Amino acid sequence: MADAQDPALAEVVLGRPKNPAPDATCRFDQVEEPVTIVIFGVTGDLAGRMLLPALAALYAGGNMPENFAIVGASRTDLNDDTFRERMRAALEAFGGVEPKTWEGLAPRMSYIRVHYDDPASFTALGAALDALAAEKNLGGNRIFYLAVPPTAYEDIAVNLAMAGLADETKGHARLVIEKPFGRDLSTARVLEQALHTRFSEHQIFRIDHYLAKETVQNILMLRFANAIFEPIWNRRYVDYVSILAAESIGVEHRASYYDHFGVLRDMFQNHMMQLLSLCAIEPPSLFEAELVRDEKTKVFRALRPFSTADLAENLVLGQYASGVCAGVKAPAYLDEEGVPGESLTPTFAAMKVYVDNWRWQGVPFYMISGKRLPEKRTEIAVQFKPVPFSMFREIFGDHIKANRLTLRIQPDEQVSLTFQAKAPGPMCLRSVTMNFNYYQGYEGPQLPAYAKVLLDCMLGDQTLFWRQDGVELCWKFLAPMLGDPDPGRLFLYKAGTWGPQEAGKLLTGHGLTP
Ligand code: BG6
Repeated sequence: MADAQDPALAEVVLGRPKNPAPDATCRFDQVEEPVTIVIFGVTGDLAGRMLLPALAALYAGGNMPENFAIVGASRTDLNDDTFRERMRAALEAFGGVEPKTWEGLAPRMSYIRVHYDDPASFTALGAALDALAAEKNLGGNRIFYLAVPPTAYEDIAVNLAMAGLADETKGHARLVIEKPFGRDLSTARVLEQALHTRFSEHQIFRIDHYLAKETVQNILMLRFANAIFEPIWNRRYVDYVSILAAESIGVEHRASYYDHFGVLRDMFQNHMMQLLSLCAIEPPSLFEAELVRDEKTKVFRALRPFSTADLAENLVLGQYASGVCAGVKAPAYLDEEGVPGESLTPTFAAMKVYVDNWRWQGVPFYMISGKRLPEKRTEIAVQFKPVPFSMFREIFGDHIKANRLTLRIQPDEQVSLTFQAKAPGPMCLRSVTMNFNYYQGYEGPQLPAYAKVLLDCMLGDQTLFWRQDGVELCWKFLAPMLGDPDPGRLFLYKAGTWGPQEAGKLLTGHGLTP
């Protein structure tokens, strides 16, 4: 009998790993250098709902440097005090803030009114930042977070640069932008030109908040920190992969944006493509931003292009009709406030794509996303092939259910493996599931997605951000699908169902229904 006190026996016989104590390896990087974070559009929804709570979480968690400042910038006329009051109210509204945290944050916050299209405003901003840096010993590192509509990106980037604020001689100058990065390939290139003539690629941080989700980060850990998955993660063993991002909410108050974008631009060009790339990439030689993003680029390059003729076989688009969603009556998309009555904007898409390379040849990747589906669920399923031969055929017949590995991204974050086992008692098989609940048994520190994004930006780590080549390749891939669909090919589905029936046919029973 092995003695659990003997480390060698504990490891080899009892399978107890000799891991160092978790607190020795599990820590967040701490930002050491002073930094000034300028948030444009600070009075808007994103800043109040996400950025302020994220900064408060970083400060409370001890991840911020000793010297830092948060400078709010927007068109609204506020002074430092009224700005702080608004920020405190935002923090109270979105999760609350400990008095000690607020006491630390408040004196580090100030406000400056800026007109995004007015160069003089940016000269004044530059002077104010220099004065603040001298007063508070902040050095020259600056982050400019553009929490503003994309139409303002170019003005802000141009005016920052004209005021000398893109210059990196005294510290870093980083520009953070949110999707959408254009509306198609050509507009993405126009934006890229506008930004790149003033900022270099290493200064631009393009956020995809899906990449900062814990369980999305976990995909690479699962694949490449375990020896057992990678050997079977390929066309020899995998039948198909399905990537589902279902939402029960409708278009909400965002019709003016959404109707112009639709599900393909809103979810596929960014979040869905990132999920696909993480499932499909080759292992980089090091977990390092450029190497990881190089591998993603290779996947995007390998996507089999759609010809217009192929579209009907590989793409189903839908739009929600009225129905009942999560027990509540939901209006049709066309009846939502701000949606034009004749809109052909898709709110649902199911797509079958192939990655043309050695590993994935012939394996379909099904991607499904839609609004007003029965529940909020983001999930990746790797469906394995059935056993090649059933030695049990005389007892159970030829068909034995194949294995399935499911990565539940949200909610109820978990990884589960379904396999076959003998039922206790009679000679019959049953499907059973081994389940790993992502947060169970973990009591260490956590970071909300936006806190992770801000932390990485301060640290200059681009791993979880889009690179321009990836943005363009994905737009290029989606190009044949982006025009208004033929009305006969935009299928209605009742709110609260799993999309149009045509999607079921495309998926041939794969992945979509719970
Ligand atoms: C956003 C889209 O990027 O992602 C929204 O614009 C969508 O339409 C949202 O609802 C989904 O994000 P999450 O984190 O709720 O899955």
